[in-house]
Amino acid sequence: MENNLLLKVEGLKTYFFSREGTLKAVDGVSFDIKRGETLGIAGESGCGKSVTAQSILRIVPQNGRITGGNILFNLNERGFINLVKLNPEGEEIRKIRGKEISMIFQEPMTSFSPVHTIGNQIMEVIMLHQALSRKEAKEKAIELLKKVGMPKPTQMIDAYPFNLSGGMRQRAMIAMALSCQPSLLIADEPTTAVDVTIQAQVLELIKELQKELNMALIIITHDLAVIAELADKVLIMYLGKNVEYASVDELFYNPKHPYTKGLLASIPKLGKGSRQRIEPISGSVPSPYEMPSGCLFHPRCPRFIPGVCDKKEPPFIEIGENHKVSCFLYKR
Ligand SMILES: Nc1ncnc2c1ncn2[C@@H]1O[C@H](COP(=O)(O)OP(=O)(O)OP(=O)(O)O)[C@@H](O)[C@H]1O
Ligand SMILES: [Mg+2]
Repeated sequence: MENNLLLKVEGLKTYFFSREGTLKAVDGVSFDIKRGETLGIAGESGCGKSVTAQSILRIVPQNGRITGGNILFNLNERGFINLVKLNPEGEEIRKIRGKEISMIFQEPMTSFSPVHTIGNQIMEVIMLHQALSRKEAKEKAIELLKKVGMPKPTQMIDAYPFNLSGGMRQRAMIAMALSCQPSLLIADEPTTAVDVTIQAQVLELIKELQKELNMALIIITHDLAVIAELADKVLIMYLGKNVEYASVDELFYNPKHPYTKGLLASIPKLGKGSRQRIEPISGSVPSPYEMPSGCLFHPRCPRFIPGVCDKKEPPFIEIGENHKVSCFLYKR
């Protein structure tokens, strides 16, 4: 495999099992990321974005399991390792988490323990993966807090998470995630819990740090504007499936799947004022326990072809350079 390739996810399936039945949260998802590249993953709530991220880090909750596919991750001189094969509690994945692959969440409180200072928690991560003394780790933590724009980092290092504002907590979480210079950062809705001005600052910060560290990024969001701003390529998901996968330009200027078109039509356009018509996608996401037959989107699709879309599942086909779609409207 090419050396520039960092992550290759092939046919990933992650299911949850309960008395109600099997919930196919992620059902055959494939994508790849090169070093330093940014992939955006978008789709309506419940389509499997977070579970995809949890699968990569092997932090899928107890009632769920990866039932198929591969997650190949490039560990440089050690070559590619299939993360699916690792014990989720084992030594190997723990060495990868935080050091090679880091994650930031929508709500920073989920990353921090409320009873320890943010400085101690960042130092913990640093010392877990690097042979540094406490003093050196503290200096590094201060440097990181400075880098993410934390005011008075030498004092803030002794603050508890609840002492910080939402935006500052977000910055502290980013500092912790970047403390070991991971080659991949996964940001799951990193800005939905903060207001718009802070959102812009946090995105700008992620972008800058990404460039500086030549870090690859998976940005998960249902805000396509964020994707347009940050991503090189985009994966659109619906009910655990790949719907469309394309370079960011292709996706925004030449969208193919009716679902992608629907998502694009439902974002307000800049400069068009408040009287523009925003068209939401008709219908709602069905219950994951009562999946439609054929193409999962057919009950909501404006281009539904009876006898075709409700009968078979559309294959995920390549329709152009850097452009794949799963829809019967298109031929290879
Ligand atoms: N621990 C769990 N147990 C059972 N089902 C789960 C669990 N976590 C997620 N799911 C289900 O898996 C599916 C995918 O969830 P996921 O959290 O990945 O969606 P998402 O795309 O991240 O949505 P959102 O935009 O709301 O964050 C959903 O149907 C969800 O209810
Ligand atoms: Mg989510």
